[in-house]
Amino acid sequence: MDVKIKRALLLASGLGALLTAGCGGGDESPDAMGENPAAQEATEQQADANEYPPIRPEIWPQVQSPVQRVPAIENEVQRLLSEMTLEEKVGQVVQADIASVTPEEVAEYHLGSVLNGGNSAPGGDLRADPQDWLDLADAFWRASTGEDGTGIPVIWGTDAVHGHSNLVGATIFPHNIGLGAANDPDLIERIGAVTALEIAVTGLDWTFAPTVATPQDDRWGRTYEGYSEGPDIVSAYAGRMVTGLQGEAGTDEFLGAGKVISTTKHFLGDGGTEGGVDQGETIATEEELRDIHGAGYPSAIEAGVQSAMASYSSWHGEKMHGNKALLTDVLVDQMGFDGFVVGDWNGHGQVAGCEATDCPKAFNAGLDMFMAPDSWKGLYENLVKQVKDGTISEARLNEAAARILRVKLRYGIFDKGLPSTRPNAGDFDLLGSPEHREVAREAVRKSLVLLKNDGVLPIEPGARVLVAGDAADNMVKQTGGWTLSWQGEGNTREDFPNADTIYEGLEAAIGEAGGTAVLSEDGSFEERPDVAIVVFGEPPYAEFRGDRMNVDFADPGPLETLRGFQEQGIPVVSVFLSGRPLWVNPELNASNAFVAAWLPGTEGAGVADVLVAQAGGEAAYDFTGKLSFTWPKAPDQTRINVGDEDYEPLFAYGYGLTYGDDGSLDLLSEDYEVSEEQTGVIFAEGGGEEGWQMMLASEEGEPVEVNDPTAQTEDGALKLSHTDRRAQEDSVKLEWSGDAPASFMMSGEPVNWSRELNGDLALTVDYRLDEASGGPIRVGMGDVLLELPGQDGTVGEFQTVAIRLACFADEGAELQAMATPLVLQSAAANAITVSDAKLGPTENGAACPPAAE
Ligand code: BGC
Ligand code: BGC
Repeated sequence: MDVKIKRALLLASGLGALLTAGCGGGDESPDAMGENPAAQEATEQQADANEYPPIRPEIWPQVQSPVQRVPAIENEVQRLLSEMTLEEKVGQVVQADIASVTPEEVAEYHLGSVLNGGNSAPGGDLRADPQDWLDLADAFWRASTGEDGTGIPVIWGTDAVHGHSNLVGATIFPHNIGLGAANDPDLIERIGAVTALEIAVTGLDWTFAPTVATPQDDRWGRTYEGYSEGPDIVSAYAGRMVTGLQGEAGTDEFLGAGKVISTTKHFLGDGGTEGGVDQGETIATEEELRDIHGAGYPSAIEAGVQSAMASYSSWHGEKMHGNKALLTDVLVDQMGFDGFVVGDWNGHGQVAGCEATDCPKAFNAGLDMFMAPDSWKGLYENLVKQVKDGTISEARLNEAAARILRVKLRYGIFDKGLPSTRPNAGDFDLLGSPEHREVAREAVRKSLVLLKNDGVLPIEPGARVLVAGDAADNMVKQTGGWTLSWQGEGNTREDFPNADTIYEGLEAAIGEAGGTAVLSEDGSFEERPDVAIVVFGEPPYAEFRGDRMNVDFADPGPLETLRGFQEQGIPVVSVFLSGRPLWVNPELNASNAFVAAWLPGTEGAGVADVLVAQAGGEAAYDFTGKLSFTWPKAPDQTRINVGDEDYEPLFAYGYGLTYGDDGSLDLLSEDYEVSEEQTGVIFAEGGGEEGWQMMLASEEGEPVEVNDPTAQTEDGALKLSHTDRRAQEDSVKLEWSGDAPASFMMSGEPVNWSRELNGDLALTVDYRLDEASGGPIRVGMGDVLLELPGQDGTVGEFQTVAIRLACFADEGAELQAMATPLVLQSAAANAITVSDAKLGPTENGAACPPAAE
């Protein structure tokens, strides 16, 4: 394949977003480097990047923050600064993660802030008691203020992004995508207030919310963190959420009892990346940055937001953490943001020329506080040096420290005292209190969007209902990412003491209306139901791990269940849980009613409130939710947004039925088409994907490219032929003679999979043993070979095996320049058939197969 095309494909697919421009994996001669068009092109692009039109701050809105500077605070800031040593000032601008810093170190390095990242919690226990959180908050506070109590108190930031979501027992609200569908700014403010109160119970100071991204490409794994693809809702919500969290600016409530500091993130363009690739490049004009991606900032500033987080994404090839024009000239100087700018998790380390421990460029660009979770110590030391040697001016250090101190003073940190002594601290009954849960349940009701209804909804009083699907009684699928753990995996029902699953809510409501509900995940039953409700959807995910190649829902299980009911003439209602709109035409066709329920959080009972008619005959609540994201009509309609020129969605932005509507739908097309760049697959349908070429290699003779239906190595040790699994010739049969070692491999231009490694992705292979193993088969990446799992499997049956990229990396595989992402090797006589190989998720931390001897 033409290199240029391949590069474009890789870039678009997300897999090769970090495609190395270097050569590696073979010919490294200078000539080969010189001829590498990818490298050349990358250099050219770099050149273009430096020539982008200068930012014009004057075209951005000027906003008036209600939180103006007042002499009392300004004088205090100056007094503090005048008494602080250089080291103390540097400490203020550094934030460490509680998994990598002790209270003693906070004291020693005068750190200004700590955070708990998505996978960090007191004592390393994601299920720690609220008391442990409070105790740790006290410990950090004591350390920062010192024995004599004169030190500057630390502030603790957390990702309370849908409620105080790192805490067992907290009220978990629907993720922002569901709140967007509710289109109710008053509700948003109330949610902010509840969240702030629950944070205050544990003595923390600050939340990294709201996300005011305006996601444009639904392949992005963070789509659900955005309220809407449309700037209007984002703008209407941002300020209200800030007010809910911080309190009404200009009143005593502001940053007072039960309130916390809020963050608008990620500035700027986080939701606009090409291909929906996390941390990618946002291609947009300056006006689009302002009008689409910047929509949330004016209203947040008007509400007095006190911090903003820089985005991991780039614009014109430059990482936002280093973009002075946008961070300083636009956000601070033009838009009047007067809080402090915090970085994202080691995000400064991605700026060209920087490392996590060393990045004066970001600081000079306007980043006031570095989020340096595990890199804080080295960073601190370098910052001290850089101020001393003038790389960073003292004035800039003073400015950043002043911005942070100003916010701390507005928050009244010096008067607030020990976290456990503050109002509401330790009121653990407030966590998941009935009042708080009622707000979340209201949000669930309002977030539901009815996409189809031929009349089966509402469920009639007295009905016998079968509740099926693997998400029906499943807190993990209901709550999604950023819940107790970063990716939302590994949680159990017991981790949610204050919660109802969707099934639990249905059971209660149906029972109250005189009917019966039976739970049967696979849909099997003894007594024929009047109606079935199937709850299904996406597994939990967060940043990066949730990035996809297309918007096909793709899980065949639920469709089978739905069709099973359809064939038996049982009316069926789909309740779909997802972090984004997905192509579900087959599922829509196989359902009599279809409800998009997003990621509702702990209050699953809100679903039944709307779906089930009460004894009198009507449901207590009608549907009011409307799509805040366009629903696709094809699996490759990944970037369709309201206002597009050729707007041909399945369901338009704003769509949503009520009980009064005729909600029947004609049969939808089930033709499945995705373009090559959206598959992200190494091997499928009998051949290499995305430019990967099938090869056979043996010890004797040259490697052989496989371009024909059959092929073999020169010495005949390995023979390949095509065979059928799901379709004609969609698989390859590999037969090793056992006379000499030989390999099947996929090879191509090297790609950089370090990010994929970081995201704990796995190489997954679908294969079948055609005869009992005659000796070990190895699976490899590059020249690292591990034992292929599943060799004791059943002969004649396909199985999927997944080997984490980390397993290959641990043995030395170079994932930053991977030219052979799949090798299957054997020296013994064996026969297997391979149908698919791709990168996919696997169980976090799953064991590695042993390395080949
Ligand atoms: C995310 C931020 C988050 C931070 C701290 C980052 O990876 O992008 O949204 O606030 O981690 O957990
Ligand atoms: C942390 C998250 C963070 C992410 C960034 C995780 O280990 O828990 O908070 O956002 O790393 O890559």
